[in-house]
Amino acid sequence: MIELKKLTVVAALAALIAMPAASFADGAAIAKEKCAACHGKDGNSEDPKVPKIAGFSAATITDMMEEYRSGDRKGDKYKPKDGAETDMNEVAKSLSEEETEAVAEYYAKQKFMPANNKFDAKLAKKGAKIHDKRCEKCHSEGGSLAEDDAAILAGQWKEYLEEQFEELSKGERPMPKKMKKKFMKLNEDQKKALIEFYAAGGK
Ligand code: HEC
Ligand code: HEC
Repeated sequence: MIELKKLTVVAALAALIAMPAASFADGAAIAKEKCAACHGKDGNSEDPKVPKIAGFSAATITDMMEEYRSGDRKGDKYKPKDGAETDMNEVAKSLSEEETEAVAEYYAKQKFMPANNKFDAKLAKKGAKIHDKRCEKCHSEGGSLAEDDAAILAGQWKEYLEEQFEELSKGERPMPKKMKKKFMKLNEDQKKALIEFYAAGGK
């Protein structure tokens, strides 16, 4: 009898542990209410100043939200056409861990649609060579693979990329140590070429 009771407790505990935290929060509803005005319902934002986040891995989105929540990364104030002005630090702080994971899972399931950027094909070709040598290790398949957990660079809005390159260069945004080593060695021409390469879709 005692043995049976013990078993029941063990089974109940195991079931609790196995239950994914995300199952309590509705990612689609959170996205609609808290993110869609800026990032779009499917994560493919329409304003080139706002990054596309569709198809990023859930781990990437969760990590980025953590950087905003802690304040390690500062978000710019932004006012969408239909919605209130806010920044990513406020947004990240307004979500529980569970809600963050749920909304991250939701956007991870959406399809990344490459932006229709203008680009310089000759410079993009130069950028491809630099990318292969210095960035492909972590941003593989030309910066298009979500499973790298390093965002999607290929087909991201060009204006957003330019802004991030500048923030990274000035040390205003944190980056992995190993990326910093490579990134900080780039000169201005190489950065321009890389931006053209990603704007062109990483090809
Ligand atoms: C008021 C507009 C606005 C809202 C609402 C908003 N975002 Fe953002 N988000 C931005 C802007 C602008 C940036 C880019 C730059 C910055 O300021 O860091 C950004 C950046 C991000 C990034 C970093 C992407 C990258 O490639 O580095 C993630 C992830 C993100 N937002 C997720 C979310 C999620 C999830 C929600 C909803 C819970 C949300 N955002 C709500 C405007 C918004
Ligand atoms: C050691 C692995 C690594 C290397 C090497 C690396 N990166 Fe990264 N990169 C990352 C990770 C991880 C992130 C996501 C950081 C975060 O969560 O904010 C990132 C983010 C970025 C972002 C911001 C994307 C966004 O959506 O906000 C840019 C731009 C970028 N990397 C460019 C480069 C370039 C250019 C190179 C080569 C010179 C490079 N990276 C090399 C790992 C790397």
